[in-house]
Amino acid sequence: MMQFLRLFRPATAQRYTSYTTSTLRLHSVYISSRFYTTKNHDRLKGPVSAGPSTMQAIKNTIAENLGNNVLGSHSLAPEDQQFSLDQVPDLSGKVALVTGGSEGIGYGCTHTLLSHNVSKLFILSKSEDIATDAINAITQEMGKDKADRVEWVRCDLSDWEQTGKVAFKISEKTDRLDILINNAARGIMTYQLAKNGVDLHMAGNHMGHVVLTSHLLPLLKSTAEKGNTVRLVQLGSNAHEMAPKETKFENLDELNTDYGPNAQYARSKLAAILYARYLDRHLHSQYANILSNATHPGIVETRQSAVHIHEAYPLAGYAMSVGAVPFKKDQFEGCVSTIFAATKTDKSGEYICPPAVVEPGSDKANDVQLGEQLMDLTLKIVKEKTSSSSVEKGCPFRES
Ligand SMILES: NC(=O)c1ccc[n+]([C@@H]2O[C@H](COP(=O)([O-])OP(=O)(O)OC[C@H]3O[C@@H](n4cnc5c(N)ncnc54)[C@H](OP(=O)(O)O)[C@@H]3O)[C@@H](O)[C@H]2O)c1
Repeated sequence: MMQFLRLFRPATAQRYTSYTTSTLRLHSVYISSRFYTTKNHDRLKGPVSAGPSTMQAIKNTIAENLGNNVLGSHSLAPEDQQFSLDQVPDLSGKVALVTGGSEGIGYGCTHTLLSHNVSKLFILSKSEDIATDAINAITQEMGKDKADRVEWVRCDLSDWEQTGKVAFKISEKTDRLDILINNAARGIMTYQLAKNGVDLHMAGNHMGHVVLTSHLLPLLKSTAEKGNTVRLVQLGSNAHEMAPKETKFENLDELNTDYGPNAQYARSKLAAILYARYLDRHLHSQYANILSNATHPGIVETRQSAVHIHEAYPLAGYAMSVGAVPFKKDQFEGCVSTIFAATKTDKSGEYICPPAVVEPGSDKANDVQLGEQLMDLTLKIVKEKTSSSSVEKGCPFRES
């Protein structure tokens, strides 16, 4: 709890450009704002665009990470980076897919998309009982018509053969896909291997989503070719800054090194941001109306932050599961940045924090070479672990 109260730990660092970013460090449950000082190397070019003031940076940190009961959190963000769920446009005619859309932040997305009339919504997750509860809740709250628009499909994203098949099945059921929210994730939990022998965090959180997206590409592209805007969202986290500093994405041995629960999770969130930017470079560059962004939801009260944390930290996890409760966002506050990226933004390649604040993310999250290396390794591993026919059908995505 004491650590949680160390909310604003300022640190200065010299950079050749100026910006401010906020960093959520989940392992010790504190948030730090990092204030970078401006260093204009070329005076003839005029002032380097200044980042937000120190006060605004603190306000952004609160808005991005904490619930609205803390000083009205989202209202603290700058006016031009405000967004709320009642600003979601009418989604009639659109089709969406949310991985892990049956609970937590994913359910916040599901609920919001349906509230705004999305025509069809696929939810992918593992647990049927949780999905049934979600659909029952939608029936009760919004009626049968809305609930009938939801189709739950069992899918374990760490099982790539199954994920590929699920994607093909979905492609047969719809002739468009406007919104893809890659939200599902294993949270801060201990190092484990998936059935295919790959670190479970990377196998499910990153590679599973690459397999899914890759197999859905023909559908996504044809939706865009008909003149629709297609929005792809990867759920990142400010925790990506805790990825092991030696991360290079060089080989499977590196992925299968146990760095501990925080770092395993953080690396998979770094991968999510790098993947969003990879898609921006290779897909958005060719299909201007396919937008690819990553988001951070804030610290949100969900099974991940209330229950799963105890698998990794049986006692210390109480700081997060109990101590942090008054400060956390609920799932509807926690889905705001993702819904902004999924329904509203007209930009691509960004890392969007609540409510709609664009942050640069860590140096690694901006490292193009690291992103290419990640996707080369993803291709190699998926190829090795799955049948070649799957790879030939576009898994994983490699456009150019
Ligand atoms: N909560 C936070 O404070 C926080 C902070 C930063 C980022 N995030 C990110 O936000 C996203 C949502 O997190 P959350 O807190 O809402 O988590 P959550 O409540 O635990 O929900 C996670 C969802 O993912 C699904 N899932 C997990 N592993 C899966 C797999 N292998 N295959 C298919 N589905 C799987 C789960 O369903 P089944 O168990 O039924 O499969 C569940 O629906 C995650 O990407 C997380 O990293 C959360």
